[in-house]
Amino acid sequence: MYAIIGGSGLAKLSALQAPRRQVMRSPYGEPSGALTFGRLGGREVVFLARHGYGHTIAPHEINYRANIWVLKDLRVEGVIAVATVGGIRADLGPGTLVIPNQIIDYTHSRKATFFEGADAPVTHIDFTQPYSERMRRALLEGARACGEAVVDGATYACTQGPRLETAAEIERIARDGGDIVGMTGMPEAALAREAGLDYAALAVVVNHAAGRGDSRERVKLDELEAVMHATILRAVRIVEATVRGAA
Ligand code: HPA
Repeated sequence: MYAIIGGSGLAKLSALQAPRRQVMRSPYGEPSGALTFGRLGGREVVFLARHGYGHTIAPHEINYRANIWVLKDLRVEGVIAVATVGGIRADLGPGTLVIPNQIIDYTHSRKATFFEGADAPVTHIDFTQPYSERMRRALLEGARACGEAVVDGATYACTQGPRLETAAEIERIARDGGDIVGMTGMPEAALAREAGLDYAALAVVVNHAAGRGDSRERVKLDELEAVMHATILRAVRIVEATVRGAA
């Protein structure tokens, strides 16, 4: 069974057939909401809304540890994380779908590890390649199978939020090598690695990042809805095709 974590614009996976909700708890507290089990692409999947079903949990307030812990507890075969982002690189404008292969973490003060506390041994994980190549390949193959264009490889910069970035911050992130910017990719990806879960992301570009393209003066948040809805629909098609085809 695969897990899908839905971000902004994807609080409910209406493509799920025979959906059933189940409340789960973790030693780290409550996940973002009940898990929804159902069938997608002919297979059983489990869906979790990262911001809660009513979109009430801000990026810095998400209990990433509880979310990943319950997926680990369910022994899912892999995790597909859908997340909206701003585009920094000129060719990654609104409406682009990206399967990132690298991460830069600018977040702070988030509970970012399972390995802490007096009796936990000091544990380091390898994070050279932060995403599972198997899940990235599965997403790329899913996109190919349903005829949706995706960009293969980009560096996802994760900011603390909930405010958007300044133009100078985006300039700095671009100099650092960041291609897209979001607020929820970390510590989610690192916790998945700690938990031994195969995790990859499908990023949905909904705006030019601050200071870029038509966000030169400001990010027009009120205009994001339309592109978000249209692009999320394409993302769901890819997720469905990925689940159908995944080994
Ligand atoms: N910055 C950070 N997170 C985001 C953005 C952005 O421009 N767009 C969507 N999520």
